[in-house]
Formats: sequence, structure tokens, C-alpha cells
Amino acid sequence: MLLRPAVLDESIIGQALPWDLYTASGVLTSPAGQRVGDLAQLQKLMARSLFRPADLQSHEGNPARSLRDLFDTLDTLYATPEQADLGAGIRHSVGTLMALHRADADAALGLTRLLPGPAGATRHCLLSAQFSLGIGTYLGMDPPTLETLASAALSMNISAMKLHNELIDRNQPSREEKEAIQDHPGQAVNLLYASGITDGAWLDAVFQHHENMDGSGYPTGLRGNEISMPARILRVADLYAAKISGRYYRPPRSSLFAMQYLFGHERRKIDSQLATLLLRRYGFFPPGTLVFLSNHETAVVTRIQERKNALRHVVSFLDSRGRALERPAERDTQKSGFSVTRLAEIQRDWPEIRWENVWGYA
Ligand SMILES: [Fe+2]
Repeated sequence: MLLRPAVLDESIIGQALPWDLYTASGVLTSPAGQRVGDLAQLQKLMARSLFRPADLQSHEGNPARSLRDLFDTLDTLYATPEQADLGAGIRHSVGTLMALHRADADAALGLTRLLPGPAGATRHCLLSAQFSLGIGTYLGMDPPTLETLASAALSMNISAMKLHNELIDRNQPSREEKEAIQDHPGQAVNLLYASGITDGAWLDAVFQHHENMDGSGYPTGLRGNEISMPARILRVADLYAAKISGRYYRPPRSSLFAMQYLFGHERRKIDSQLATLLLRRYGFFPPGTLVFLSNHETAVVTRIQERKNALRHVVSFLDSRGRALERPAERDTQKSGFSVTRLAEIQRDWPEIRWENVWGYA
């Protein structure tokens, strides 16, 4: 059964539940019709992540629609960052992203990884923003601080988006391009400041997002606690998002590989406690990870797994002949026939896939 998050608020007190409520792994916890008697009962329900059956008939709340608009808005904004309303545009986009993250963080992340459309550097900023929000939420940051974090993620590379898009395709910067890379945090701050952004925490995070804990970063060579917490979070999210995304010259890496890279090659550069939080939050199979199953179907991880390092629930969207399933089907990878054989990546010859369907949206 496909599930999507159940959003409950105080208006449900005194009313009957409109849907069955399930855990992420599909265990029924409260049947439809059960009355929510008081605030304490509501708080008990809301204390854990609960899901309701998907409704593939209703177009209400489709996160893919908002994300496609966000891709367009950001691609346009990034094409001309010198415009006066840059700051307002980023704030507006952050509002949209945070609403998506609150409503269905798993779908927002998975769809950001899979929906076609945005420039590579745009997708990268959106992924970095969501991983930053994941770490920040785990740290218990308040909503204004989370907003600062997402604002910095969406604007950290704003002075060099064209160059970042080019480097996603070839990974061989020239000497001039290397200099531009060194300058991009400072230039991004200049652009934001010129458009009226004076939030010191936001500007610091952008300026410091390539500083390393061991002092080997740029532009200033700050180290340890000299680097702000939002900048340290961005550094981890930025590196991780880059590793799990495909590049023209290499396929996407698994989350396991990306974590080994963070805790191995990059360990002196990053705040390892933050990388540990990232691992605790997403495990080795973040939403949007694609896998082949032993019955030759292709499936996607749609939800953060209840046991973080073990993959159990995925949703198949291509049958054994590579045809799109009319209705995506949830599979338990612990059951015979559905075990995971290897990771998959998007292929050009796949049929068009309605990715929102696999997250339970029409
Ligand atoms: Fe950057």
C-alpha cells in the first residue's frame, strides 16, 4: 500500500480520524473513525511519524507541482543574480521549500533527486538545502534558524552558477576558473548584500561555506569554532549532495560510499558530529535512491527506513521488461523475489515516469 504523511492539527479534536493511520513500515496504529478525544490524545498521535493511504485520484497537495515551479523560479533567478530582487526571490523560494519539507520531507527530497528539469547546479543547491534542514531539525534548531540555513544553501553559489553547471559536466577547471571558484563565496555575499540582505548569520554561512575544520578551506582559512554552525552544516550537506548526485563524467555514488568519503577522505575538513547526524537522519538509503530487485523490477526508496541502515520498503515503478507500472507497487525487500540486487540510476530510454505517483500523489 502506498502511503503519504498524515497531517493532523487541533481541528481534529472531538472528530473521527478520516483515514487509517500507519507507521512508515505500514503497521496500522489507529483505524479510520477512531475519535480523537482531547489534546493529549492528539499529541500522542503526533509524537511519531504517521502515514495515511495515498490518494491517487485527488490532485490536492502534489509536491511535484510546487517543485517544478521552484526549479523554474530558481533557474530564472540564478541566470541573472545581479537583479535587485535577488534576496526577495531567495526568501520566497525558501518559503516554498520549507513548506514542502514540512508537508512531506521524504517526497520533497526524492522528487528533487528524480524529477527532470532543473540545471544541475540548481538541483544541487536544493538538495544541499534539504540535507541542511535535515541536520538542523535533528539539532533542534528553531524555524528562523532553519530558514537562515535554507536561505544560505539556496544562495551559496549564486555568483558562479554558470560555472558550477559547466563543471558538473567536465570537472576540469582552468586556472581562471579556479580563481573564480576561490572568489565565489565572497562574490555571493556581495550580490546578496547589494540586493538588501543584511542578515549576518545568512551572509556568514554563505561566506564560510567552503571553510574546513582543519583550516584548509577558502576564502579565509578559518578553522574549528571560527566557522559558524550553519556554515559547517552547509559544508557537510554540500559534499554529501555532490557525491550522491550523478555527474556527466561519473554515475551517482551510493549513500554508503558518500558517508565513507565524508568519514574517510574528508574527515579532517568537516565537523564529523554533523556528518554523524546526517547519517542518523537518512541512513544509507535516502529517499530517491533507485534499486533493481531480484524479480527484475526497478524500484525507488520513498521513505526514510525505520531501521536506518537496512533497506526494507521500496516502491516498484518499472516492470521486469522496463515498462512503467500502471500503478506503482510497494515491495518488501526482505521477501523472496523482491531482494535488492544493486543500485540503479535514471536511464535515458526509460518511459516517462510520474514520479509523484510513487510518493502517493496524483
Ligand atoms: Fe560553493
